[in-house]
Amino acid sequence: MCGITGIVGKHRDDIGRVLIECSSKLAYRGYDSVGLAAVRNGKVELRKEVGTIEEVNRLLRLSEMKGDRGISQLRWATYGAPTRVNAQPHFGCEEVLYGAHNGNIHNYVEYRQELVDTGHVVRSENDGELCVHAVDKYFEQTGDMFQAVQLSTKDLQGAYAYAVGRADTREVYAVKMGSSLVAGVGNSDTIVSSDLPSILPLTNRVLYIQEGEMLRLTPDSVDVFRIEDGKKLERNLEISTVDPHAAERGGYPHFMLKEINEQPKVVKDVVGSLQGSETSRWLEMIEDASTLYLVACGTSYHAGIVGTYYFNRYAGIPLTPSIGGQFIPMYGNTLSQDSLCILVSQSGETKDILNVLKHTESTKHGKSLGILNVIGSTLMFNADAYIPMVCGYEVSVPATKTYYSQSVIFAYLAVMLGERNGTLDSSEAKRLVNLLANDLPRLTQDTIDRTGIQAKRLARTLDDVKDLYCLGYGFTDGVAREGALKIKEIVYNHCEGLYSSEFKHGPLSIVTDGYPVIFVTTTEDSWMVINHLSEVRVRGGRTIIVGEYEDKLRSYVDSKGDYLMVPESDLFLNPILDVIPLQLLSYFMSIDRGINPDLPRNLSKTLTVD
Ligand code: AGP
Repeated sequence: MCGITGIVGKHRDDIGRVLIECSSKLAYRGYDSVGLAAVRNGKVELRKEVGTIEEVNRLLRLSEMKGDRGISQLRWATYGAPTRVNAQPHFGCEEVLYGAHNGNIHNYVEYRQELVDTGHVVRSENDGELCVHAVDKYFEQTGDMFQAVQLSTKDLQGAYAYAVGRADTREVYAVKMGSSLVAGVGNSDTIVSSDLPSILPLTNRVLYIQEGEMLRLTPDSVDVFRIEDGKKLERNLEISTVDPHAAERGGYPHFMLKEINEQPKVVKDVVGSLQGSETSRWLEMIEDASTLYLVACGTSYHAGIVGTYYFNRYAGIPLTPSIGGQFIPMYGNTLSQDSLCILVSQSGETKDILNVLKHTESTKHGKSLGILNVIGSTLMFNADAYIPMVCGYEVSVPATKTYYSQSVIFAYLAVMLGERNGTLDSSEAKRLVNLLANDLPRLTQDTIDRTGIQAKRLARTLDDVKDLYCLGYGFTDGVAREGALKIKEIVYNHCEGLYSSEFKHGPLSIVTDGYPVIFVTTTEDSWMVINHLSEVRVRGGRTIIVGEYEDKLRSYVDSKGDYLMVPESDLFLNPILDVIPLQLLSYFMSIDRGINPDLPRNLSKTLTVD
């Protein structure tokens, strides 16, 4: 949530243009409001407004702002409504100090009052403004920016990162206290940002910043310091191999469609990476665990549910899935030293997940194995071990290809574990890995090709729908929940994902003539799903099926168009493939309603707040 970018240029005067170019790569992090502070000849000009980066840039001509340094921010609102005054960056008491943050300041109420009581001119209801005033307060006392930034972190409680600068110095400072921060050194600029994509238009020479560290950017260098004692730290620049064009749409109308279409490649890449990795450490961590939890949020949680079924069936290993925010109140006190938390997070920055990580660290109860996509994330640096999803950048707010990779990782781990503990004999294990490595990329492409048109047509018939269910059974439990989440997220329909045998225990009463219920099934479970389909149909409901074609299911839909057919495959691959028609259906429903699926209202790709 929220994206900050700060640049200090050597010779440039076009800071607005370059800040807009870089920060537009963070559009997925926040699109409630946008602001830019540009410094020229010792004066700060600040422009900000409600809207997306394109809208605000069009309105306020941010990219025409002149100067050699500055800070921009894309906001996802938490403290303070999305209004102009709450938009970031903010000034301190005078129009000299400027800055912006990402994250949450938890002592917002008390600290704001304290600042107001001591004469600070606090203009907004946004917690980011307090970061700037905290620096202002200590600059007043010390006359030194380095110390002011260092001391500000003692006042500010929460999980955040911020960047600040002054009109009279050619420096920008930044701190990382619980939210992500990356820096880069280009030929003619230095840059700090919430995420790598906005660094890459300027340079591939990057510095990953760790918790509790602060930065000083000058036109020539980025220095890293430990906040606690101000000690300068030696850090080597790393050369990022991430394609700078990865965060571009590449001819697709939306990132979401591009990312769905990247899934065949994702399978190849992630299976190749798993086969080329030293997996024994991960497998041993799982085998040695006395209790094994799967902790994740949203889409990652749904992939975790799929993983739970894989572990049970192919490895005979029980995995307890838990929603990130629920984990500590539900299981926190019962962890032992030998517990293992598998923390699944695309961003590696989700606060609910980092809370669990901190809990295991502080209680010394439980080890952590991260499954993550963003290299350089807090989860990557702090988990005991991590498995990369190898998806490249996922820009669209609705997660698609990372879910796909997560499902493949769980399937692969289950087979490896099953072979090691004798649940699977080695020829069966080999066959299953072959299916992942050799058949799944082709079948994934085939599913996209086949179900794309079907999903587009079906979406049109659902134009008037406001409310529906998406049900799964057995292996498709997590898949159905994921389909429902996608429809909620980018179609703005209420859509509940549920275990299909639960539907009769209450929700069935919602069914009247034409009420749509989507059933996601595998060939193994369709005999049971038929019962649930019948229960809806006899009450006049409209049943829609996602799964392989089966003659026995044909009479449970009104028309062929209500049957999204995935290609024939081994049961082992069914739960992976079944998600594709749901991703596509939600995408086309979203488009039909005039919504931009990449930037659904009120949401952000990375939720670094509680
Ligand atoms: C998925 O479409 C959502 N945008 C959301 O549920 C997401 O999966 C969730 O916030 C978890 O994010 P993470 O994987 O980065 O932790």
